Parts: sequence; C-alpha cells; structure tokens
Amino acid sequence: MSMAGVVSTNRSAGMPVRGTRVSEFTPQRPKFWCVDCVAGARRELQDGCVDLIVTDPPYGIDGDTLHKHYNRKERFVIDGYTEVSRKDYADFSRRWIREAARVLRPGGSLYVLSGYTNLLDVLAALRESGLREVNHIVWKYNFGVWTETKYVSSHYHILYYEKPGGPRTFHQFSRFCSQERNDAGGSLLYQDLEDVWSIKREYKPGQTKNKNELPRALLAKILQYSSDPEDVVCDFFLGSFATAKVAKGMGRSAIGFEINRAAFKHQERQVEKIEVGSMLPSLREGRDDTPRKKGEPWSRELLDDLAARFRAHRRAGCNKKKAMEFLQEEFERGRFSILKALERRGL
Ligand SMILES: C[S@@+](CC[C@H](N)C(=O)[O-])C[C@H]1O[C@@H](n2cnc3c(N)ncnc32)[C@H](O)[C@@H]1O
Repeated sequence: MSMAGVVSTNRSAGMPVRGTRVSEFTPQRPKFWCVDCVAGARRELQDGCVDLIVTDPPYGIDGDTLHKHYNRKERFVIDGYTEVSRKDYADFSRRWIREAARVLRPGGSLYVLSGYTNLLDVLAALRESGLREVNHIVWKYNFGVWTETKYVSSHYHILYYEKPGGPRTFHQFSRFCSQERNDAGGSLLYQDLEDVWSIKREYKPGQTKNKNELPRALLAKILQYSSDPEDVVCDFFLGSFATAKVAKGMGRSAIGFEINRAAFKHQERQVEKIEVGSMLPSLREGRDDTPRKKGEPWSRELLDDLAARFRAHRRAGCNKKKAMEFLQEEFERGRFSILKALERRGL
C-alpha cells in the first residue's frame, strides 16, 4: 500500500522536517494542564506543534451513572468525571475539534473515539474543521452492557482524520510483516490493518481508575502506526492519562488536558513513575518484507521452472504448504502469486 504523502520510514532514516517542533515537549518532560482543553490549547499550544492527537471526549450521556451499567465497585473509581450535556454537545465538539485542527501539524493525525449517541455531532464538527477522513474504524470491545430487549452494544467508533498539507505518518509494517500467516494461512498484516478492531477492555479489580479507561493495546496500536519516537502526542481529554502513559512508555512526548482536578493530581503522579520507552521491548515489531518481484509477470520458462521446483520439493517429502514457503523464497514472490502460478500449471 503506497499512498501519496504518506511517510512510512522513521525519523532516524531521514524523515522530512514537519511543522513547528516545540522543543520544551520531550519524552522526558511531558506536559499536562488541568484546565478546559479549549482554553488550554489556545493559551499553551501554538499552531502546528502536535504530531498526533488521540482522544476520547466525554460521552454526552448520563456519565456519572455509567457504573450502573458496568459491573464494578465505584470506590475504586476517581470522582468527578466532567460530562457535557446533550444539548451542548454539537457546539462543544465544534469548539474542541477546531482547536485540535489548529494545533496539528500539516500531515498530523487525529483519532477521536466516539460512541453512537453523539456520533453525528462529532462527524459534523470534523467535516467543518477542514480535516480529511482517513478511516472510520469500529472498535469491538468486551463487557458490552447487557440488554434483554435489544442487541448488546459492544462497539465504539474511532474516527481517523488527517490535516491536509503535509506527509502523514503511517508505518504499514510497524507490527507485522507482509508474509506472516495465521494457522489458516490468513495474512496477519491484513487482519491488523482491517478497520474493525477486536480489542479487550482491561479489567483492573482493586485498582484506582478513571471511569472509562482505554486499553493500552488499543493506544499502542494507534501510536505504532501513526507516530515516531519523540513525536508530540496530545490528548485533549486525558481522564486516566492512558494515552499519555502509553506515549511515554513508547518514547513519545506526551501532552494534554484534563479538567477534573482529582483525576489530574492522581494520574500525573502515575505518569511520573513510567520510564521513557519502557513499553517498547514488549511491543510486536514487523518489517517490510514485501517480495522483491511482487507484481512482475510470469514468463513461460519461469512457470516451467516453478512447476519443476514444486515437484522436487514434494518428492523430497514437503507438504504443499511447506513447498510453497520454499518457492516464495526461491522465486521472491508472495504466496498468492505462487498459488496462482501453480494453478496455471494445473498443480
Ligand atoms: C471519556 S473520558 C477520557 C478517558 C480517557 N481516554 C482514559 O483512557 O481514561 C473524558 C474525560 O474528559 C474530561 N473532560 C470533560 N470536559 C473537559 C474539558 N472541557 N477539558 C478537558 N477535559 C475534560 C472528563 O473529566 C473525563 O475525564
């Protein structure tokens, strides 16, 4: 997949200079503000200083009764989640998304998580913002709210947008190689790149938490594909600071806003305990192993040669799957290409 304007190398490999780099934000010195994100962004962030925004705004539903739906003990949940009323939601979305668009560098990415209730307001604000849609991702989670008279709601929307005008970071092979397969022969890379993500929420019995903490696996996936080490990663609604914790753990420069003082004080201390880059060794890593001759036509001689090599591998005791693996290496083609070529020889 090669897309115009998409950066798929990393900075150490000669990345172009993008936007205004604000030197005071570094992985070692994350910066958080306990204020309304719109006022805070206006006061603290200059145009184009952020590489990536990942954020999960308040839901505009009955926020403080969420515990009635989720089966959990509220004494471990930090008080004071600040909600926005349904009637104000459209205007609220417009105001914070306008700021988000301003602070993103050209080519920067925005991932907004949204439930269904106020999705139309968020989409309308995104369209007005001048940002461009890249993907509409569905996140399927566990612990959906049990219902008896309708289907269980167990998905979220992730709206992935870019700011036009610069190269967008997208590391296609950051997690899987193109040749990696599951037991049924399916491509792991393809599955990871599909726009439906099945990722479990984390269950943390007995730990202090925020009302709606995003799973680290989900945030790490977004950061692996859409950012580089040292990039400025901002969350307008930090909540439990999950984005910031993952960003620091991955060696990115975390910044963001949270209006709730109780959550802010507790979580800012938690971020301090995280070592820069400490998550990196545990992350899955891929590389670009696209076959060198991908897409090249098969000549008659090459097809004969392929058929002969296939028979030789089979005679040597390989099953078809193993023989195909050898042929992929020998002929520097992908599995599908080998399969089709063998079919043309009736094999
Ligand atoms: C859905 S939660 C974010 C959860 C977060 N993604 C996490 O993983 O914990 C939304 C957060 O936004 C905060 N909030 C609400 N209005 C805000 C505003 N105007 N500025 C900054 N934070 C705000 C709420 O207090 C709440 O903690």
